[in-house]
Amino acid sequence: MEKAQLVFVPWPGMGHLVSAVELAKHLLTRDQRLSVTILILQLSFINSKQVHNYIESLQASSSTISNSLRFIILPKDEPELFNFTSFIERQKPHVKEAVLKIIQSESTSDSPAPRLGGFVLDLFCAPMIDVANDFDVPSYIYFTSSAAFLGLMLYLQKIHDEEKFDPIEFKNSDAELPVPSLVNPFPARVMPCAMLRREWLSPTLENARRYREVKGIIVNTFLEFESYAIQSLKMPPVYPVGPILDIGSVGSNAPQEIMQWLDNQPLSSVVFLCFGSMGSFSEDQVKEIACALEHSGYRFLWALRRPPPPGKLASPSDYEDPQEVLPEGFLDRTAGIGKVIGWAPQVAILAHQAVGGFVSHCGWNSVLESIWFGVPIAAWPIYSEQQLNAFEMVFELGLAVEIKIDYSKDSEIIVKCDEIERGIRCLMEHDTEKRKKVKEMSEKSRKALMEGGSSYFWLGHFIRNVMAIKG
Ligand SMILES: *[C@@H]1O[C@H](CO)[C@@H](O)[C@H](O)[C@H]1NC(C)=O
Repeated sequence: MEKAQLVFVPWPGMGHLVSAVELAKHLLTRDQRLSVTILILQLSFINSKQVHNYIESLQASSSTISNSLRFIILPKDEPELFNFTSFIERQKPHVKEAVLKIIQSESTSDSPAPRLGGFVLDLFCAPMIDVANDFDVPSYIYFTSSAAFLGLMLYLQKIHDEEKFDPIEFKNSDAELPVPSLVNPFPARVMPCAMLRREWLSPTLENARRYREVKGIIVNTFLEFESYAIQSLKMPPVYPVGPILDIGSVGSNAPQEIMQWLDNQPLSSVVFLCFGSMGSFSEDQVKEIACALEHSGYRFLWALRRPPPPGKLASPSDYEDPQEVLPEGFLDRTAGIGKVIGWAPQVAILAHQAVGGFVSHCGWNSVLESIWFGVPIAAWPIYSEQQLNAFEMVFELGLAVEIKIDYSKDSEIIVKCDEIERGIRCLMEHDTEKRKKVKEMSEKSRKALMEGGSSYFWLGHFIRNVMAIKG
């Protein structure tokens, strides 16, 4: 039986890493001829303890695929001041060395070494194609965001290179762009904020340029969900294999206290507010959210996080006592209907039948989780490409309501109480067309992964592509 191994280079942020591991699990479960090595990059502003605990927990769990899934942690090596381009450049020799070691160690054992089938690179790691080329094997991208965003990246890179288009100037205009992956004209106000800073724009465009060299792009989406965007993408070949989610251990890490509180709430009655691992708000904004919750009167579960110190590249943390930022008496007045928590076990909460709506930053994993569990979103994007995700969910697909889709961490605006309240009321209304559509999409997402489903087909197609290439 011919075997093949794939080398994964995910971005080390948890959202990207977990998604890559789940993709690897799908591949390994599907085809016993495959093995996967995941290379872990180390970056000082990413919580390495969380990453290491996660990897250890995977290695400790004895499953049928644990023999064919391995992790290698690469040495710490980064420029003093974080610079995306030079960070990736510095990792290339480490990646090469790790892969050489794997090949050498395996060729001395009795059984023949599995052929190197290719590299599966994170959407931020496309320059690693150079390493794959050194080994003379194909590269694939694992795109942990939407097909719509992939289309936007490719389009912006093209008009930037061919027509000197500058996304940063565009932001301050009323112009709209005909982006091939979107049905509607793309308005300047939802330009992903990753495209609006010089230091991010240039590596982002460089990644898009390099996507054109790969053998295929695996996208965490599914045909029934983003059909228009997927069909707009012609080259390189796209494999929509999603939703790839980490839902295997639902509830196992969820604090009892939260789950018990949810158990005591009526069906679909609770609005859940959670803004991602990097999402947090100023004290003034927190007070407006509190006001909206109190006025709307809906039951709520609110993951409230403390922002990192200004100017510091770090994740939010939990408040010791959230009363220091909440309006006076808020917790007492809402004790009967609401609960304020810190870090939230999002999947376990979305899976709970008491949850009826999700105020979300629209990180792509969160969008897919809300679809999977059939919980409608009120969109409040904050960073990265979330403004586009919010635009897509509200206007392209009609699957979400808006709180403020052109909000961004850098915009320094405060969304007012009544605007938030309007969004929450709209979200929590029952028996709406939108709610029905989300439920239908939820069923489609589950069918897509089953035998005979579209994502099942595309994953198989990807494996056939990998296995057909002789090393
Ligand atoms: C990052 O490094 C690259 C190459 O090493 C350089 O061209 C670029 O100007 C640097 N970017 C910033 C924002 O300093």
